[in-house]
Amino acid sequence: MGNSSDSIFVTRPNLPPLEKLYPYLEKIWETKILTNNGPFHNIFEQKLAKFLGVNHINLFCNGTLALVIGLQALRITGNVITTPFSFPATTHALKWNNISPVFCDIEEESLNIDPNKIETLITSETSAVMPVHVYGHPCDTERIQEIADKYGLKVIYDAAHVFGVKMKGRNLLLEGDISILSFHGTKLFTTFEGGALISKNEAFKKRIDFLKNFGFLDEITITSPGINGKMNELQSAVGILSLEIVDEEIANRKKISETYFELLKKIKGVKLFNHFKGYDYNYAYLPILINKGQSAEARDQVYNILKKQNIFARRYFYPLISNMLPYQGLRSASRENLPVANRVADRILCLPLYGSLSVKNVHRICELIKSILQ
Ligand SMILES: Cc1ncc(COP(=O)(O)O)c(C=O)c1O
Repeated sequence: MGNSSDSIFVTRPNLPPLEKLYPYLEKIWETKILTNNGPFHNIFEQKLAKFLGVNHINLFCNGTLALVIGLQALRITGNVITTPFSFPATTHALKWNNISPVFCDIEEESLNIDPNKIETLITSETSAVMPVHVYGHPCDTERIQEIADKYGLKVIYDAAHVFGVKMKGRNLLLEGDISILSFHGTKLFTTFEGGALISKNEAFKKRIDFLKNFGFLDEITITSPGINGKMNELQSAVGILSLEIVDEEIANRKKISETYFELLKKIKGVKLFNHFKGYDYNYAYLPILINKGQSAEARDQVYNILKKQNIFARRYFYPLISNMLPYQGLRSASRENLPVANRVADRILCLPLYGSLSVKNVHRICELIKSILQ
């Protein structure tokens, strides 16, 4: 093992220059305002709304709480149809609201929930659909909305990966009833930990503001059992500065991704996801499928050999959420219900991708993959 400075991780946070943060820190130390809708929180909220082209947004201490509170504010109960191919927080947010997840299989091409398989899972208990724009590739939002309208269901988008994705002629974050973002340290846009919830009207935004602050209506009145979901002033300051550098990060990642695509497309057994129809991608991830053999063996071999070279690719999202202990007993979690998702989870690998990754290292990674698969 080399030391960690030689290591190549799946991502590296894109941080603003430290000297730009100092004046913000000085202000925080001077005013002693640390949290509770402080000035930086309010500036970040406004700037972020403008950047994302939305009118109603709430900041959060993380994306998971944005999901948990969003579901609660929409008063979702019963069953929610969702994808097993995601980070566990997606399904956990349902469980934290006493909602039962119903897993729906995914599409081969987008790796998102398969709209053609949603309808057969709907029962009188179903209250919503919760899709994920996996890796930042947009779901078929039109088709999902058609189904939701037909059955009177709400739609909650886990949009944790879509920061900076631009659709032609519409805003992906305004699809469905709400969308949530994550600004976790592994994300393209980060505030260390953090998240946001995008909704459609001011009354809903106000309700979220109230729920994420313990349910305080005013200094002495609490009308419902809220929780603490607030983003603090340090996170907000980092957010304000990070907005200035995210476009450049996307441009850099695009170049690196294109080198990957050129090299990987020549390797037999590697499937790429590089057809961005109708949108500008944010290059948040570089997922590939290792299509060799019938099991996860070839993928794990690539993963382990890279790891021995201190190259830490990640098997996002393996195992499937439906195969994790808290969920594997559910009827919809069976492998027969989820053939595509199970096949993909055994073959998926996310390769290192970040703006400062060198072209030399991309060549090295691709050469290693080639030598393993040949
Ligand atoms: C798809 C997805 N949903 C939800 C989350 C949870 O976000 P957070 O870590 O900000 O709580 C993440 C990532 O962390 C994610 O990748």
